[in-house]
Amino acid sequence: MNKKEFAARRQRLIEIMGPNSIAVLPNATVKNRNRDVDHSYRGDSNFHYLSGFDEPESVIVIVPGRPHGEYILFCRERDLAKEIWDGYRAGQEGAVKKYGADDSYPISDLDDILSGLLEGREQVYYTMGNIPAFDQRMIGWLNHLRNESRQGKHSPYEIIELDHCLNELRLYKSSAEIKAMRKAAEISVDAHIRAMQYTQVGKWEYQVEAEIVHEFMKNDCRSPAYPSIVGGGENGCILHYIENDHKLKNNDLLLIDAGAEYNYYAADITRTFPVNGKFRKCQKALYNIVLDAQKAAIAEVKPGNHWNQPHEAAVRVITQGLIDIGLLKGKLEQLIEKDAYREFYMHRTGHWLGMDVHDVGDYKVGGEWRMLEAGMVLTVEPGLYIRDPKHVDKEWHFIGIRIEDDVLVTKTGHEVLTDRAPKEVDEIEALMAAVEH
Ligand code: GLY
Ligand code: MN
Ligand code: MN
Repeated sequence: MNKKEFAARRQRLIEIMGPNSIAVLPNATVKNRNRDVDHSYRGDSNFHYLSGFDEPESVIVIVPGRPHGEYILFCRERDLAKEIWDGYRAGQEGAVKKYGADDSYPISDLDDILSGLLEGREQVYYTMGNIPAFDQRMIGWLNHLRNESRQGKHSPYEIIELDHCLNELRLYKSSAEIKAMRKAAEISVDAHIRAMQYTQVGKWEYQVEAEIVHEFMKNDCRSPAYPSIVGGGENGCILHYIENDHKLKNNDLLLIDAGAEYNYYAADITRTFPVNGKFRKCQKALYNIVLDAQKAAIAEVKPGNHWNQPHEAAVRVITQGLIDIGLLKGKLEQLIEKDAYREFYMHRTGHWLGMDVHDVGDYKVGGEWRMLEAGMVLTVEPGLYIRDPKHVDKEWHFIGIRIEDDVLVTKTGHEVLTDRAPKEVDEIEALMAAVEH
């Protein structure tokens, strides 16, 4: 992403904010792992969206119309001794030169400078509740201004949620964002293919996970976009299974839900395939129901359709499929009406995808499902999860299946960004049969 992209985003925000306002956005805090070891740092998505700046202890301030520059970046000062221990810092000079800030001050000066910037502004765009310690500081600056009102100082009278404004911007992906998402998708597809080629009876789930992470990192993705789910057999029935610590068994399916993060953009793919390379009859029957449901849902992704239409299409195919194989009894419309499928399909068919795997953006607008528009990206991920209900014949037990692709809404319909990951039964079996272990 180049500097122009970030500047254009800030400009769009400035247009929403209006003249007499100010936006304040602190970056994510560092999370401690134990003693003096921290978790690896990942900046706040909104912060990165506006700045491309990824150091902790930084704050973006945007002041529309400010004569000395509208974009101020507070960050750590250069400090050779600290940099020898903890790595590079851009410092104030880097913030201006490399990241396009109009002005930059040391983060240690925030208290001194911010209440002056807030003074005389009418609206503050700031999201309460994300970082409670920062909320307290914001309250302090605002109180300070109120207490100085007799000296003629004006404190802001409106606080507006900044995240909501940014979330709406982030929902529509620019061409640079789509390029990053395509790359995340391609790398993730390769990781799934590699996992299929590696998988064998007797391997451990985490060994398959290692193949996936290797493929991500080898291709410039330093981290998965979320903890990978690698669940064999009954573990595939646990929606958020991340232990990944069981041995893979003959005749089981393996469900892998894994996606790379490339330059802050996520992919999110699920594939389910047989550990020994060949689907059993019941597995194949259920798998094809999910696959048909997914195809029907993807067909509904186009401008002019609303958010819930893909889900409704998936529910219809899944319910009919469950009737056909005898797992549900009754009439299609009535079973849909009473959500009978939910015993076996208990999540929704997708979510927005972007910088966060479960990305931002409202799903309903004015109480109605949101219309799909070009530039939005969503996942389509129906599944079936049959643990061991007593009323279901044992041959169906412990089969968990999900098939998930990432879909871009285009002007004329959609594009499946993750299409290259095999999902037809024949394709998967041929790919796995071609491997010599
Ligand atoms: N990987 C999380 C999800 O599929 O929603
Ligand atoms: Mn997903
Ligand atoms: Mn997923």
